[in-house]
Amino acid sequence: MPLFFARSGVCAAAAAASLLVSFVAGSTAYAAAAPIVLTGADRRAAMSLDGEWASIVDPYFSGLFSFHHEEKKNGFFMNYKAKPGDPFPTEYDFGKAPRLKVPGDWNTQRESLMYYEGPVWLEKDFTYEPKQQTHVFLHVGAANYHSWFWVNGQKVCEHEGGFTSFNCEITQAVHAGSNFVVAAVDNTRDEDNVPTMQTDWWNYGGLTRDVSLIEVPEAFIDQYDVHLSRTEEGVIEGWVHVTGAGAGTKAEVQIPELKAGSTAEVGADGRAALHFNVKGLERWSPEKPKLYKVVIRAGQDTVDELIGFRTVETRGTEILLNGKPIFLRGVCIHAEAPYRTGRAYSDKDAETLLGWVKELGGNFARLAHYPHAETMLRAADRMGVLVWSENPVYWALQFENPKVLAKAEQQLDEEINTSRNHAAIVLWSMANETPNTPVRTQFIETLASRARSADPTRLITAALLVHAKGSTKIIDDPLGQALDVIGFNEYIGWYEGHPESADTTEWQVAYQKPLIVSEFGGEAKAGLHGNETERWTEEFQANIYRHQLPMLNKIAQLRGMSAWLLMDFRSPNRPLTGIQDEFNRKGLISEQGEKKQAFYVLQKAYKEQTIGNAK
Ligand code: GCU
Repeated sequence: MPLFFARSGVCAAAAAASLLVSFVAGSTAYAAAAPIVLTGADRRAAMSLDGEWASIVDPYFSGLFSFHHEEKKNGFFMNYKAKPGDPFPTEYDFGKAPRLKVPGDWNTQRESLMYYEGPVWLEKDFTYEPKQQTHVFLHVGAANYHSWFWVNGQKVCEHEGGFTSFNCEITQAVHAGSNFVVAAVDNTRDEDNVPTMQTDWWNYGGLTRDVSLIEVPEAFIDQYDVHLSRTEEGVIEGWVHVTGAGAGTKAEVQIPELKAGSTAEVGADGRAALHFNVKGLERWSPEKPKLYKVVIRAGQDTVDELIGFRTVETRGTEILLNGKPIFLRGVCIHAEAPYRTGRAYSDKDAETLLGWVKELGGNFARLAHYPHAETMLRAADRMGVLVWSENPVYWALQFENPKVLAKAEQQLDEEINTSRNHAAIVLWSMANETPNTPVRTQFIETLASRARSADPTRLITAALLVHAKGSTKIIDDPLGQALDVIGFNEYIGWYEGHPESADTTEWQVAYQKPLIVSEFGGEAKAGLHGNETERWTEEFQANIYRHQLPMLNKIAQLRGMSAWLLMDFRSPNRPLTGIQDEFNRKGLISEQGEKKQAFYVLQKAYKEQTIGNAK
């Protein structure tokens, strides 16, 4: 599409040029800072921007790029309102544009967008009164996949990665009275993305979690870590990081219920180290998910947190929670919303999903294959469900591409720094079902050591593929060296063999480490019945479980399991009409909450604790 320069000759050009000056001043002159992590952002007072946003679907991204693919200075981010006599056409109007709800993926909100992959513009007006000595951040819970943000026409940040929260400084862009924010969100899949082209989940696009404005004082607490020491009994340790702290700023952590706490000086690196004794602390566990109010202060800034205190570690092939061996009775969960489907984000979504884990007799959930919402992690803390949290290094990334490693590192940092104070999270998973190649191993070893140094209080794992020699399954992927706990996926009875094949399957494990079977199972259409040899029936799926559990129980160092999976979820790889209808049907429960027979087979084993060697 030629810009008015080409067609409309000199006079139009002159008029346009003068207009352009104001755009440049408004848009690109301001260098957008990189977004930051704000630990506990959901615990801060915030002005919500959730609700209806104006939306423009822009498959050719012509709202940002010109016909010569140069970035526009007067793109849709200017939210320009056409005026009579303008010497150029304005071919968009957010005022008249259809609405989309935020938080929410666009796919399940509009039939025409169910398969849409590309850029969508979203605009929201808001009123704001700037305050002295106050920073304002635009908090985004998640935006899938690549997103750009402008406030009042000024670019404020850009982000890549669909499952971690980020915060854009907008202090210089807002003004008193009415303001507007424009987001461009693009869920186009690319070879060098994380995850990349192939996933077995629907590529839900949009502002999929809450969006709000958060105010903080000039010196503010951006990250903190408060946890129970593994090595010293009755000691809380960690740190508080303060941005903009003047020399001599003190950071303080208080646990009023325990009349315990400490104050420490913030160093040149913005960090204050914590180390203090507590008496009478009740440790967090799935049976007793005790949370304490923890007040974190520095300068004028305060964060009121809710934290559970527990330790997790390995000892040989044991996983120890609070020093005692534990067996993780679990199930995998995708962030698919129960009943309404689409990307899950709400407290209700979380409580429904984790409520089913509890009903199953479970104490553990593998949140697959990407970081889930803070609402899910808060619910896991509250309800007492141990969590495996995963970075979306899924299947075959471009492991040789340093740009891809940087993206995976960025997402890992955001995941850990946002969610490090959740007692429920005991495992950081680096990857799922990646090909066993040296470049892959090196890539993930880099991530594993990064995670270990960022958070030495949790266990590092990954879901590995296994191979076979005859009826012996072998777990010896070299990546296992870099892990504290080995996860492995197997689908005996579904993708290979028959359910009964499990009865004669032996397991050979190359590592003296705790093992978790991170995926097993098969598909069934809820309500479809037949005999147990008929694939897709509930009886067939239940039969897989009946043969899996005794087989898994024979693996001496098995310390946990997460069946694939709790609830059916939308997937582009599942077209079988009348059965899958674009849903992966390996759920123990359908997306409409119908429990399948296999749910009760696993529930019986979990409730009677007939599974697992270390109870
Ligand atoms: C894989 C993969 C899952 C997938 C599952 C399946 O193991 O990790 O993401 O959904 O198998 O095939 O159902």
